[in-house]
Amino acid sequence: MARILAFSGSSRKDSFNQKLVTLAAKAAEQAGASVTLINLGDYPMPIYNQDLQNEQGFPAEALAFKTLLLEHDGLLIASPEYNSAFSPLLKNAIDWASRASEPNEPPLSAYRGKTAAIMSCAPGALGGLRGLSFLRMLLQNIGVMVVPNQRAIGFAGAAFDEQGQLKDSEQQKAIIRLTEELVQTVDKLVSR
Ligand code: FNR
Repeated sequence: MARILAFSGSSRKDSFNQKLVTLAAKAAEQAGASVTLINLGDYPMPIYNQDLQNEQGFPAEALAFKTLLLEHDGLLIASPEYNSAFSPLLKNAIDWASRASEPNEPPLSAYRGKTAAIMSCAPGALGGLRGLSFLRMLLQNIGVMVVPNQRAIGFAGAAFDEQGQLKDSEQQKAIIRLTEELVQTVDKLVSR
């Protein structure tokens, strides 16, 4: 069974991206995956600084996030767009987890062999699409396979109903399809 870790790059109380990843996480469960949905705000990490790591070791929250990555095969990520790129919260978490936390640990071990599906949501018409290009490139550069499909949801303020579903049924179906693509890809890779 595919083990999927789902998170967004926003810890904002009413985050659109956390809503989006929450509905994608439910779709992944319906597609047969075992899903862990987290809020990165529950893992407060200092901004990465190598001196800090050398002097104080790995912060507990960064290690907890990295351990979650190691325990899962697939990643469902909803990324806010900040000035055309992904959020610093997301980048900082990815950076911490990219570092060795044990002596002689191979580089990027938390990311090797993982598969991700990426999505975004923003109040503007493009829905954060520009940020996804950067996120795709970053993930691929650290060894994560990103499924070809992706989805950016625009006009976020009017996009969700009270149950957290997307009002536009085509958008809702597209997120479900993207999630199923992730689960099916992970299932194939894991069963090899
Ligand atoms: C933004 N926002 C934004 N939106 C967008 O579509 N393109 C952009 O380049 C930016 N840039 C940007 C920079 C900064 C510093 C902030 C704080 C915001 C708006 C952003 O999409 C909006 O705040 C979303 O609500 C953020 O996502 P969450 O927190 O709702 O998930």
